[in-house]
Amino acid sequence: MDLSKEIKRRRTFAVIAHPDGGKTTLTEKLLLFGGAIHVAGAVKSNKIKKGATSDFMEIERQRGISVATSVMGFEYKGLQINILDTPGHEDFAEDTYRTLSAVDSAIVVIDAAKGVETQTRKLMNVCRMRNTPVMVFVNKCDREGRDPFDLLDELEKELHIKTIPLTWPISMGSTFKGVYSLYQKKLNLFFSQDKQHMDKDVVEISDLASPDLEKYVDKFADKLRDDVELLSGVYPNFETEDYLSGGTAPVFFGSALNNFGVQELLDSFCDIAPYPRTTLTDKRTVDPFEEKLTGFVFKIHANMDPNHRDRLAFLKICSGTFERNKAYLHVRQGKTMRFSSPSAFLAEKKTVIDEAFPGDIVGLHDTGNFKIGDTLTEGEKMSFKGIPSFSPEQFRYIDNADPLKSKQLAKGVDQLMDEGVAQLFVSSLNGRKIIGTVGALQFEVIEYRLEHEYGAKCRWEPIALHKA
Ligand code: G4P
Repeated sequence: MDLSKEIKRRRTFAVIAHPDGGKTTLTEKLLLFGGAIHVAGAVKSNKIKKGATSDFMEIERQRGISVATSVMGFEYKGLQINILDTPGHEDFAEDTYRTLSAVDSAIVVIDAAKGVETQTRKLMNVCRMRNTPVMVFVNKCDREGRDPFDLLDELEKELHIKTIPLTWPISMGSTFKGVYSLYQKKLNLFFSQDKQHMDKDVVEISDLASPDLEKYVDKFADKLRDDVELLSGVYPNFETEDYLSGGTAPVFFGSALNNFGVQELLDSFCDIAPYPRTTLTDKRTVDPFEEKLTGFVFKIHANMDPNHRDRLAFLKICSGTFERNKAYLHVRQGKTMRFSSPSAFLAEKKTVIDEAFPGDIVGLHDTGNFKIGDTLTEGEKMSFKGIPSFSPEQFRYIDNADPLKSKQLAKGVDQLMDEGVAQLFVSSLNGRKIIGTVGALQFEVIEYRLEHEYGAKCRWEPIALHKA
């Protein structure tokens, strides 16, 4: 297998959005285009529905979905595309931040009516810190939205990134006519689904002055002409290099629900999105084209099957070729490990693989050896940097509520901490254990999982501490 060729055809990215922005819908449409799924509705939303925060079935359902959709891989135009899923609930934002450490680029979804929202801002901060290239998809143009110029201004101001529109909406909401591709000079017409139409969807318009424009977008033609003139004065030409260095974000308009503008987004993504880049370790920078394998664990999923104490560690490959049954060094533990059934995630299935390449995510069965952030190499002692460890904001004492189950409790707490659900501290004053989390929901999750997966019972006691 030609390593260099394999690396260059890999695109590993995440779709990020504020809850309800349209992340699930867009992901599903991308998978439909990629042929990875065949019917709409196959990708389940992994957000915890509003008002259901204490519904533990919902938590379990979400965990089930998130293991199934953690990585969605498919082939498109000769490229191997890996979409990494991120959780929908903001109390699980840490999971999202860690996932962002494993992607080479991101697509940010914005609701055209709501603009930049809290979660968008936070997630973009992480992308900016890592210079992750981002593309923006302004979604829901079929609904009354904000003025697109205002939206771009807001994106620049709030997300601290230069934007360059590559498509431009012609009206929005009930009079939404479609988008004009500023670079291909094509009009992509929108017909809402209930209307039958005979016209072509895409028309070449090399000269916007042409009276043909009126034929397609009637009274919005002049507005489009004015907008495009204004845009050409305000925005410089799009340069792929500026996007790749994380300096500018190309912006697309559309409607994921109506499958509109998604193909343009995906095609542009394939043209410009980066293949795996270099990764920083505590010792040196790792180049994906190096022959020896390196990779790090960015996510751990435990106990999906209550009958088996199985855990799945998600390894992002940073360099070299990963091979089944080959000996690798688990750097933190200083021990050699082999993996007889590493899995890849293609379409809707998890399959055992013999090899994998930089950009790929491999699922490793784990009996408790891995922690988030662990590095695997072929012998070199180094650790990957930049896997965010969060600073907890809420704290509670954790006490054992069932004296006969103290071992189970200790084990459960240890394993959940390895998974990165929360952080464990010990009070230097009284030796009591303190759990620190980002959101209040995690306490409920921990209590529920300790009971259902480890047979242990815990009790919480408030503690007057905030933000570490
Ligand atoms: P999320 O994963 O980012 O949280 O968002 P999700 O895709 O679940 O979308 C949130 C809601 O927005 C959904 O409606 C979805 O149908 C709707 N939506 C997504 N894209 C568009 C679009 O382009 N136009 C319009 N008009 N709506 C869009 P819902 O009622 O919350 O859920 P559902 O019952 O439709 O699944």
